[in-house]
Amino acid sequence: MDRAKELSILKTLLQYDEAGTTALADAPWENEVTAYTCPERHRREEELLIRGRPVVMGLSCDWPANGAYRTDDFAGVPILIVRGRDGQLRAFLNVCRHRGAKVVDGCGEARSFRCPYHAWVYGDDGALRAVPDADSFPGVMDQRPGLTPLPLAEKHGMVWVLPTPAADGSADLDIDPWLCGLEEDLKFWKLDTYHFHARHVQYEEMNYKLLVDTFLEGYHFGFLHAETLRNVLKPNINHFETFGPHSRTTYPRAKLDRLRTKPEDEWNLMWNSTIVTQMLANTVFSPQGDHMEIYRMFPVDGRPDRAVMETSLYIPKTAETEDEKRHWDANLALAIKVITTEDFPAGRTMQMGASSGAQSHVIYGRNEPAMIHYHQSIRRELGLPIDDKAAKAAAK
Ligand code: FES
Ligand SMILES: [Fe+2]
Repeated sequence: MDRAKELSILKTLLQYDEAGTTALADAPWENEVTAYTCPERHRREEELLIRGRPVVMGLSCDWPANGAYRTDDFAGVPILIVRGRDGQLRAFLNVCRHRGAKVVDGCGEARSFRCPYHAWVYGDDGALRAVPDADSFPGVMDQRPGLTPLPLAEKHGMVWVLPTPAADGSADLDIDPWLCGLEEDLKFWKLDTYHFHARHVQYEEMNYKLLVDTFLEGYHFGFLHAETLRNVLKPNINHFETFGPHSRTTYPRAKLDRLRTKPEDEWNLMWNSTIVTQMLANTVFSPQGDHMEIYRMFPVDGRPDRAVMETSLYIPKTAETEDEKRHWDANLALAIKVITTEDFPAGRTMQMGASSGAQSHVIYGRNEPAMIHYHQSIRRELGLPIDDKAAKAAAK
């Protein structure tokens, strides 16, 4: 993204609005309902898409100082991420090399980590530093020099971890090939200038992809959100662009209309739209007017019908006064309220519908291009044919 792209998205949205149209896929597309229900497919998704691909862990500001650490179990393995005294961010499996207890919980600042079970101590570089009664473990500190590293990338102000150790033990993750051009957007948003404000965790009884689906089309804004978003976002209009398996959908705010009477050099994309960047299977990164939101969705308990969404709010300047804190808290509360009281109740019914036997497929319209791209990308990653009906017919 650059200034020319910013203007071109705004112009396209104004044209769509005038013409009463939107970005359109070539054709509607049908997706198997088993995408939301099949335990075997779900197991493969967890293995390939959650633990086999880089997972967004947050922004650089989540580890603001040397010694800052956060633990994160959402990917189904315990992960510890810590900024060492050298400023380097590192990720480890949060699994003690003695008998496997979790070394540390939560988040905070520390120079070293002491396993609560038998007090083995690890440095902020993951190295095993001390073993009580070391004489009982001859040679063990050499055999087990530290926590198991996970590949990590910190770039453009964002942090990714591959939740599976590299075969060669590498701690570095080359994120560029995976971004497929999205890096221009990330650079444009200057994410390394943001500050963490607050986080919210919501457990749901539906497939994690239904949580992602919530963000991927504006067709429902005028109906499901008739009392809330309908007057904030223009329904059923989106600008759409793909980046490999990722995508960016831009929804115009109602105030976009004002741009028609303003000179172009005053046009601002962030203030006049809501942007949804879908990053492969489980992350939605959303620049929103004056702040950034990151939504991360994960399966829970290995079940296709259980999921959790973590919402994080990032702001341009740390909230110092009570008024500022209240302002940003209210922003987060509003986003969560609409999603959890309007979108997710509908999502729960879709999970029940998927298991009901009513239909083998659901259908996404031409006006829902991000839905089509997301689910086709997942099928590609899983090695499944895009058109399963045609594939089944040909096999007969
Ligand atoms: S399991 Fe960690 S010290 Fe024993
Ligand atoms: Fe919604």
